[in-house]
Amino acid sequence: MLEFLMSPAVYSFVRGPLVWIAFLVFIVGSAYRIYVMISTVKKEKLVLPYMSLRYSIRSILHWVIPFGSVNWRRHPVITIVTFLFHICLVFTPIFLLSHNILWHESWGISWWTLPESLADIMTLIVIFSCVFFFFRRIIASEVRFVTYPSDFLILAIAFLPFLTGFLAYHQWLLPHEAMVNLHILFGAIMLIAVPFSRIIHMIFGWFTRAYTGSEFGMVRHVRDY
Ligand code: HEM
Ligand code: HEM
Repeated sequence: MLEFLMSPAVYSFVRGPLVWIAFLVFIVGSAYRIYVMISTVKKEKLVLPYMSLRYSIRSILHWVIPFGSVNWRRHPVITIVTFLFHICLVFTPIFLLSHNILWHESWGISWWTLPESLADIMTLIVIFSCVFFFFRRIIASEVRFVTYPSDFLILAIAFLPFLTGFLAYHQWLLPHEAMVNLHILFGAIMLIAVPFSRIIHMIFGWFTRAYTGSEFGMVRHVRDY
């Protein structure tokens, strides 16, 4: 098994066709989900007339600022972990030196990169946040009550690219080639999962917030934050 995982054939597959498939499914799949959402909303008479740019922006601004909403202020620990988790989850892979080198090798493009030690700390933040979310879902009764097996699956999908990326970078546990191949596989699984799972909240979350903000601001004349 290990021999197979480290073989150059597996590396050529994960570095070649798999990366293409992953980015295509991620981009085309997410665009399709947005298209379906917009066409459904257009048919639904009770959504668009109640949308307001002003109240949408007001609501989003309050929710993207840590402790900017009553709900964030009421749960300080979860607020800190959620914000740190998402900031590190989104920015580490985009600005990682190793990833940037691959973009440069394949397409000749490159951009700003994070110092390697900072990227390493941000990776650890994601790893420990996932561990925190995992135990919270098991221990806190109010969260356990609304937890489904799919919640653990999504946590694992977020966790594994970071764990394997970290282990590959430090050359721990498995031979480097095997860990890099595993890492690319889990990275691809995460990208492919976006349009098919609740991870699509990275796109839909903004629209839901905008609608809630609009309805509360324009119709009920109250704040939603
Ligand atoms: C699917 C295409 C991907 C490829 C080809 C790829 C490739 C790589 C490579 C070659 C490394 C360096 C390993 C080393 O230093 O030996 C790495 C590290 C890493 N990757 Fe990826 N990766 C991919 C996707 C992802 C995704 C989707 C994420 C997260 C969302 C991710 C997060 C990381 C992290 C956190 C590290 C290690 C950071 C550290 O501790 O220094 N990668 N990746
Ligand atoms: C940049 C866009 C994103 C935004 C605005 C966003 C927003 C949110 C919000 C508001 C929550 C709820 C926090 C709470 O429990 O109070 C959440 C939870 C979560 N998000 Fe995201 N998210 C984004 C991207 C992602 C991505 C790319 C992933 C990758 C897998 C992800 C994974 C998760 C997970 C696993 C949870 C739930 C943690 C738990 O309670 O088990 N998010 N997100």
